[in-house]
Amino acid sequence: MLVERCLFSLEDTLKFGNQLGSVLFPGAIVLLDGPMGAGKTTLAKGICTGLNVPETLVVSPTYTIANLYPGKLPISHVDLFRLEQPEQLDDFDRDDLLPPDGVSLVEWPNLIQSWLAADEPVLHLQIGVSGSEIRKAKLSSAAPEFAEILNRLHKLP
Ligand SMILES: Nc1ncnc2c1ncn2[C@@H]1O[C@H](COP(=O)(O)OP(=O)(O)OP(=O)(O)O)[C@@H](O)[C@H]1O
Ligand SMILES: [Mg+2]
Repeated sequence: MLVERCLFSLEDTLKFGNQLGSVLFPGAIVLLDGPMGAGKTTLAKGICTGLNVPETLVVSPTYTIANLYPGKLPISHVDLFRLEQPEQLDDFDRDDLLPPDGVSLVEWPNLIQSWLAADEPVLHLQIGVSGSEIRKAKLSSAAPEFAEILNRLHKLP
């Protein structure tokens, strides 16, 4: 199932993230895809508030690669924008970036695809900006763990 949501304002983006964060489970991996400045970090902030982390604590991990937040579940917020080669990922421990007992949010996720097995609970969250500057989010997943979650999010306003 594909869930699409128009995000007319910053508040809409935070609210959608919050709705998603509230239903995530240990081990969930959210790949935040979209062009520069689309709103990936803003979605991550919203997701974190849904996991009981104050929005103001959440800052872009562009320069640190990963920030960890102790929410309702441990949250790893990763941004791979500055990584240029897939081999640079080898400097990191997989369980640090993608904690098995927590939730992982990954901006610029291209290079991490090689780490992901086909049967992992991966959610694709794409955000784009249309010509009219209105953001649109698209959620999809091939993982059975997300089927009911996508159904529920689809019904929310
Ligand atoms: N729905 C929205 N409507 C208007 N502005 C928004 C919306 N969502 C986010 N923004 C604004 O867009 C700007 C960029 O957002 P953000 O930093 O979340 O993007 P990003 O995709 O993480 O960027 P980067 O590619 O640099 O990581 C911010 O100023 C944010 O407040
Ligand atoms: Mg960002």
